[in-house]
Amino acid sequence: MRFEEGGVSVAAGRAGRAPDDDPGGLWESEATTGHVAGGEVDLSHKVILYLDGITVSFDGFKALNDLSLTIDAGELRCIIGPNGAGKTTMMDVITGKTRPDAGTAFFGQTMDLTRMTEPQIAHAGIGRKFQKPTVFERHTVFENLELAMKADKRVRRALFARLRNEERDRIAETLERIRLDRDADRDAGLLSHGQKQWLEIGMLLMQEPRLLLLDEPVAGMTDEETERTAELFVSLAGEHSLVVVEHDMRFVEALGGKVTVLCDGEVLAEGDLASVQADPRVIEVYLGR
Ligand SMILES: Nc1ncnc2c1ncn2[C@@H]1O[C@H](COP(=O)(O)OP(=O)(O)O)[C@@H](O)[C@H]1O
Ligand SMILES: [Mg+2]
Repeated sequence: MRFEEGGVSVAAGRAGRAPDDDPGGLWESEATTGHVAGGEVDLSHKVILYLDGITVSFDGFKALNDLSLTIDAGELRCIIGPNGAGKTTMMDVITGKTRPDAGTAFFGQTMDLTRMTEPQIAHAGIGRKFQKPTVFERHTVFENLELAMKADKRVRRALFARLRNEERDRIAETLERIRLDRDADRDAGLLSHGQKQWLEIGMLLMQEPRLLLLDEPVAGMTDEETERTAELFVSLAGEHSLVVVEHDMRFVEALGGKVTVLCDGEVLAEGDLASVQADPRVIEVYLGR
């Protein structure tokens, strides 16, 4: 499993570092249990994600160039921008897949993302959904949600079998939320593309992330599925924080949150959709290329 591998690489990669060099004691808990202990994110300043001066270079080319961005707790933020703007690279930095060459990245007040491994970041409460749905096609919808939870809770379950009812309730709640309650016993492989995307979002939700990163979630969806997805995201905001990369402007409009326009690895404009769409610099990058 991914987490065990992560645990090993953490231990190997950071061996020799003094424990007091470690933010929040993550090194020790990961190395000993494979989980991040006490992973409550500190939202005392109402900010869930803080990026400042992030630069990522690929062979001298700056995919992110001094990028600064703040996401409030409970916010639903859309990121738009032309191809190659750095949107996916930004998500790679937040999830620990890519290390920035410079800059600061904090999850809440205390967790320094640039010093955490990918599994530590996932356990701390950042969930990412890639563009392509990756559900277990030969398992039912219910089983997919159950499996998503198991990786996380298997130790606790072995100790307290009675948690089972509580877990079933959580699965039922999630099924309703992603509008698949009537499809719980169908094989995931039989779902439409849009339903598979919802199932994967449900699988993410089973891990109880505080911050969700979604890269082009409505690509390939029907208009109706796109509308339902907007409703789902709006309903998740508040309890969760969401960062959504999307090209579909009707969807962005339906989400109704603040919009950040990225271009050439930096923030070009930020505000509500109408104001960024009226910004001459934004019009220039969309029409001028
Ligand atoms: N691993 C990589 N190696 C070299 N260049 C990369 C790599 N990943 C991304 N890039 C480049 O960085 C820029 C930003 O890419 P990306 O973050 O995927 O943009 P977006 O998601 O906004 O389309 C692009 O020019 C892309 O070619
Ligand atoms: Mg991309």
